[in-house]
Amino acid sequence: MNEHVQTAKIEPPLFNPLAPEFIRDPYPSYERLRTTDPMHVTPFGMFLASRHAEASLVLRDKRFGKDYVERSIRRYGPKIMEEPVFRSMSHWMLQQDPPDHTRLRGLVVKAFTARRVEDMIICDMLGIPAEHREVFYTSSRNGGRLLDPVPLTRAEIDEANTGNIAAKMYFQQLFELRRRNPGDDLTTQLVHAEEDGSKLSNEELTANIILLFGAGHETTVNLIGNGLLALHRNPDQLALLKANPALITNAIEEFLRYDSSVQLTGRVALEDIDDLGGKKIPKGESVLCLLGSANHDPAVYPDRPERLDITRPNVKPLSFGGGIHFCLGAQLARIEAEIAISTLLRRLPDLRLDDAENPEWRPTFVLRGLKHLPASWG
Ligand code: HEM
Repeated sequence: MNEHVQTAKIEPPLFNPLAPEFIRDPYPSYERLRTTDPMHVTPFGMFLASRHAEASLVLRDKRFGKDYVERSIRRYGPKIMEEPVFRSMSHWMLQQDPPDHTRLRGLVVKAFTARRVEDMIICDMLGIPAEHREVFYTSSRNGGRLLDPVPLTRAEIDEANTGNIAAKMYFQQLFELRRRNPGDDLTTQLVHAEEDGSKLSNEELTANIILLFGAGHETTVNLIGNGLLALHRNPDQLALLKANPALITNAIEEFLRYDSSVQLTGRVALEDIDDLGGKKIPKGESVLCLLGSANHDPAVYPDRPERLDITRPNVKPLSFGGGIHFCLGAQLARIEAEIAISTLLRRLPDLRLDDAENPEWRPTFVLRGLKHLPASWG
């Protein structure tokens, strides 16, 4: 055997998002990608935009879109759209291109008024009665895997279908309730739009309410968890925030940047692209925008991006995306996180995390968050 081969240092793959080391800390991989191959092509043939410049451009450029149905068929075969969960996701505004995206987002934005965002949290807004909430919080925590760009197994599709069918049954009942008993909530407004017939189909209504609930819950829970972990791993920043509670607003932006609860989102090239960061992207190919990597790009954050600095000026993280799909719930998420973290610090000033060094992460990587975060006080 060739001695060279035996002694050669084995380089880790540039991007291995299912590896436990990656789940624990993806930032060293991101740095390798940005510095050695910023438009890396994965073994699945996807382009990884790891620098801020390309990730941000792809989100805003009309030559890229979601192409959800075609993309799913290319990945799983022509029968995939018969699976309930894929059919449902195909109606999410998150997965649609104009003009359907424009119509659906317009309807939801109208119902998502500033006052509702200021006064309510997500269940009030959707009109989910208090006694149903516990079930929902639990079930919405299991959807993260659907977003990972690693194909789902048959068993995972079956499990997701079961959850999807149960959620659809639940929401059909809620729609009936809101038809009979209208409330000051988003569901009531969208049910009216559906009754009008021309604006929104029943399938679209159900799918987008499921999206709002899923997108609005786990992401924000993870922002709060990741933010608390970051603070406790950086006691100087924790002390600074306790001494200056008014820093909370900027601190939330920095938590979003430092360890985003959404790590990536994808687009498909709708035409041949000649040059993106030095690569040609043929029509139909996918580009994954690594938001977490863009948020640590020294080209945009010259002052030590790997450091948590709750006083960092102009944070403007890419965590809520950009362009026409920019997160609809950004303001709600910021308010929820601000209230949760500042209340916790005020009420439990001696809160300690039991294991800030090695906490248990959820195994998904598009949605980044902790499985649990045991803490003590008193
Ligand atoms: C920290 C919390 C959150 C983060 C990091 C986050 C992140 C994102 C990102 C990155 C996108 C764009 C995806 C893309 O471009 O493909 C997005 C879209 C979206 N988000 Fe959020 N989100 C959060 C909270 C919320 C909340 C609280 C809600 C709703 C109540 C919500 C609802 C949505 C919806 C409906 C879209 C799709 C918008 C569209 O396609 O036009 N998100 N979010």
